[in-house]
Amino acid sequence: MVVLGIETSCDDTAAAVVCRGGDGGCRILSDEVWTDYDDHAAYGGVVPEIAARSHVERLDLTIEKAIRASGLSFDEIDAIAATAGPGLVGGVMVGLTTAKAICLAHSKPLIAINHLEGHALSARLTETAEFPYLLLLISGGHTQLIWVAGLGDYRRLGTTIDDAAGEAFDKTAKLLGLGQPGGPRIEAAAVKGHADRYDFPKPLERRPGCDFSFSGLKTAVREATQSMTAPNKRDIADIAASFQYAAARHLAQRTERAMEITPTDEGSHRLVIAGGVAANGVVKSMLGSVCERNGWTLIAPPVQYCTDNGAMIAWAGAERLAANLAPPIAEALALAPRARWPLAPPPEGAAIGGGRKGPKA
Ligand code: KG4
Ligand code: ZN
Repeated sequence: MVVLGIETSCDDTAAAVVCRGGDGGCRILSDEVWTDYDDHAAYGGVVPEIAARSHVERLDLTIEKAIRASGLSFDEIDAIAATAGPGLVGGVMVGLTTAKAICLAHSKPLIAINHLEGHALSARLTETAEFPYLLLLISGGHTQLIWVAGLGDYRRLGTTIDDAAGEAFDKTAKLLGLGQPGGPRIEAAAVKGHADRYDFPKPLERRPGCDFSFSGLKTAVREATQSMTAPNKRDIADIAASFQYAAARHLAQRTERAMEITPTDEGSHRLVIAGGVAANGVVKSMLGSVCERNGWTLIAPPVQYCTDNGAMIAWAGAERLAANLAPPIAEALALAPRARWPLAPPPEGAAIGGGRKGPKA
């Protein structure tokens, strides 16, 4: 089963072709990602309008490269999968409309993919990650703990009540004048820093459940930075390292809580991580320690499949196609892009965050 995947929900323009074998194994035939941070550099963050225009300019070529690199023709592709949300709606619209046009032109099924499902299944591209497993999804827009019982069967255990983890890395980098993308810049700056110089807060330490919060951490970083008239390189490295340590400790503590309430009678002690922040070495090593302490296995996909990519969208499409979950073409063509699209309903009584961008359910 061969699927072309298209991803345009944020600033990455991505397309890939993957093949799902009869045994459920995956072969990535091509994987093209076009990211240009310079487009947004002057604004200190992703500008939705600029991102949407870049997708318009680059998507055709990115798809063409992915098809060419796969060694296949459109005739040999069984279906097209495209991110239909959640994300920046202008970008999602570009990807989904392009996918619809290809499907009409080549008479292929179209599978609309929830971007979060793409991340949720991304480990299965390269690793043996059998259902069920506990998923820690840590990206620029989301921070969630999800029990992945099977394809399309997701139970949310916790979410952020304010900023997402990646957003916290990006805002901290901006505050420290490190530029974007914030996560890798913080990680690089922190290498020479002392993580024990600042004792940043432990968010929600006494709160039950496994929700996350990063806004207090952000405030603490701002206060530490503004307490100095002109922070030098060493100060910046120390703040970056202390922030990274505090963020990783928070992610690890809440994940350990989730392990306690996870339905392990279903036979899984697997923790899968996904999303851009899962590329972070300190985050990974702290989660590794939590797993070791609790007898769990950590499954961390390669960095290129943690951050946004087309292969995870193609793969989610292939899994849906194999499970006969591809909708009839008329239904697929009628689908509208969605800025918000929760992967799983919140648990009863769960906190839903406010924040500048509204509820992050
Ligand atoms: O999954 P992703 O590529 O896009 C979203 O769906 O949001 O995640 C992007 C986020 C950004 O906030 C970026 O700063 C963060 O992931 N990130 C990292 C690292 N690499 C990317 N955060 C911490 N450490 C990293 N090495
Ligand atoms: Zn993402």
